[in-house]
Amino acid sequence: RKPVTVPSLHVMKAAGQRIVMLTAYDTSFAWHLENAGVDIALVGDSLGMVVQGHSSTLPVTLDQMVYHTSAVARGLSATMLVADLPFMADRDTAHAMAAAARLVGEAGAAMVKIEGAAPHVLEIIDVLTARAIPVCAHLGLTPQSVHKFGGFRIQGRDEAAADRILAEALAVQAAGAALLVLEGVPTGLGERVTGALQIPVIGIGAGPHCDGQVLVIHDMLGITPGKRPKFSKDFLAGNGSVSAAIGAYAADVRSGAFPGPEHCFS
Ligand code: KIV
Ligand code: NA
Repeated sequence: RKPVTVPSLHVMKAAGQRIVMLTAYDTSFAWHLENAGVDIALVGDSLGMVVQGHSSTLPVTLDQMVYHTSAVARGLSATMLVADLPFMADRDTAHAMAAAARLVGEAGAAMVKIEGAAPHVLEIIDVLTARAIPVCAHLGLTPQSVHKFGGFRIQGRDEAAADRILAEALAVQAAGAALLVLEGVPTGLGERVTGALQIPVIGIGAGPHCDGQVLVIHDMLGITPGKRPKFSKDFLAGNGSVSAAIGAYAADVRSGAFPGPEHCFS
């Protein structure tokens, strides 16, 4: 398998080949993603919830992100590695650059992900891109804004909010983002954003029209305690092994079978 790169992801979008992305937090899971041919492994700050037991992603530190990203990097070869900038790593451009330098230079990520499209975030996207650090933007239900939203709520439900998210998507692209994760928005908005952008749009709870899909691995293996989020699916049920479950997820994303209508918001 050829290594997945920023240019190859853009070729996939142009060719209509869906991109498969999944979170990983350690070497063993990374190895399973690699063997299943997953295109992108994301070390998400969701690890604060599914690994550390916090009720949000806010307590995750940069040291913890570096630790988990290093572990995942050792399990990968062709799969691209993306790491989240943790909460408040965007407090100013200098902190964001220092954080990205550790995640890429020390831990081995090929790209960093940052939430939102506020002016300071656009500046960080621009500055990192100028330093040849590709950036994945993240819009819609951005979990680091949980207190602003008043919970993990679907975003972009009314027309004004949807227009705002589309404008943010165009702004992060113009700032230089190489990729966009779009989370927790109605299917119609997922389709609009994907159609409007040149860069690939990876959806999670954003409908079937995105250029690719991402899930939290604990959700799609049925490991996460409590109720499974509506936009996820337990791929371990009926597939018998972790490798078969990840393989089924990759196949269903590529064929368009996942997400189905029951995983989407209207
Ligand atoms: O932290 C994470 O796992 C994420 C994905 C849900 C996109 O940001
Ligand atoms: Na995240």
